[in-house]
Amino acid sequence: MSSEIPPPRTIVVSGGTDGIGRALVRDRLGRGDRVVAIGSTPGKGEALLAEAERSGAAGRLTFLRAELSLIAEVERVVERISATHPRVDALVLGANRVLTRRQETAEGLEFTFALYYLSRYLLGHGLRGALAAAPEPLIVNISAPGLKAGRVHWDDPQLTDNYRTVRAQAQSGRANDLLGVDFAARPSSPARYVLYHPGFTRSPGSWAHLSWPVATSLRLLARVAARSPEEAAGPPSRLIDAPPAEPLTAVDRGRPVDPGLPTFDPGDAARLARETRRLIRATVGTSPLLPDETPNDQAGAEN
Ligand SMILES: NC(=O)c1ccc[n+]([C@@H]2O[C@H](COP(=O)([O-])OP(=O)(O)OC[C@H]3O[C@@H](n4cnc5c(N)ncnc54)[C@H](OP(=O)(O)O)[C@@H]3O)[C@@H](O)[C@H]2O)c1
Repeated sequence: MSSEIPPPRTIVVSGGTDGIGRALVRDRLGRGDRVVAIGSTPGKGEALLAEAERSGAAGRLTFLRAELSLIAEVERVVERISATHPRVDALVLGANRVLTRRQETAEGLEFTFALYYLSRYLLGHGLRGALAAAPEPLIVNISAPGLKAGRVHWDDPQLTDNYRTVRAQAQSGRANDLLGVDFAARPSSPARYVLYHPGFTRSPGSWAHLSWPVATSLRLLARVAARSPEEAAGPPSRLIDAPPAEPLTAVDRGRPVDPGLPTFDPGDAARLARETRRLIRATVGTSPLLPDETPNDQAGAEN
């Protein structure tokens, strides 16, 4: 058995200041890695920095405050990380927020779609240069692969009609499934892509924006039925130490998810990639984070 200690890695965690992301940040700092944690609340980032200071890891933790539902903010974060951390070994995508009412971002996009799906598309593609500098680059998208509920509403992805919390979350969950399929099929980044379902996890931060009765019910249920954030962060941490060989893997807790599920349809994945490129262009003109265009991106304009 080899006694070699793996060299320290650089890990970027979106949503690294609470819940599963924060548990992963703590775990990786404990293993000697450099970590960039992104979140929107300054107090959560400052608390994490103070904790790292106490454990002697402050020099290895960077907190980036950003509102990731905005394309302009994701661009700023990618520019900053690329300048300060030219090599990123693993990007872990965990930022999400559950909203009871439909909200639009300052850029005019539906919030859940913008944060839970679009920021992940942009971070993964935008950091391709820094990921390509790592020997075994990895992206872990913490979402809900294996769930069949929900779909991309091609006629109204911004859910202007009939917004419901579960509908918005499930649409972005399925969009992340398709993002993994499309990412793995693209030549622009060598990163292995893992879609990871953590299962029901006791992370009260996720319920802060829900109504009091719903949040209370979830809290009570979580006491008996949920995993701890530390437990949920275990599989992504192990994947960082030993990235899979396959371009795309989907895992529900420890179990592999069938890649043949209709939720991973390659035609839908290519269609979503085209629609996403169009949406970004319609919203901000263009973005340096967009991946190189492939013939597939130009095809199927009739969809
Ligand atoms: N918990 C579960 O039971 C469960 C089950 C299945 C899947 N998942 C998925 O697992 C992932 C992590 O969930 P979790 O329960 O650990 O979440 P969480 O405890 O609510 O943490 C979410 C993280 O995202 C950050 N965030 C939220 N809105 C943001 C914004 N607009 N801009 C930047 N950062 C933002 C939060 O920081 P700020 O609050 O400071 O912004 C926090 O660091 C999510 O994708 C979730 O869908 C969770």
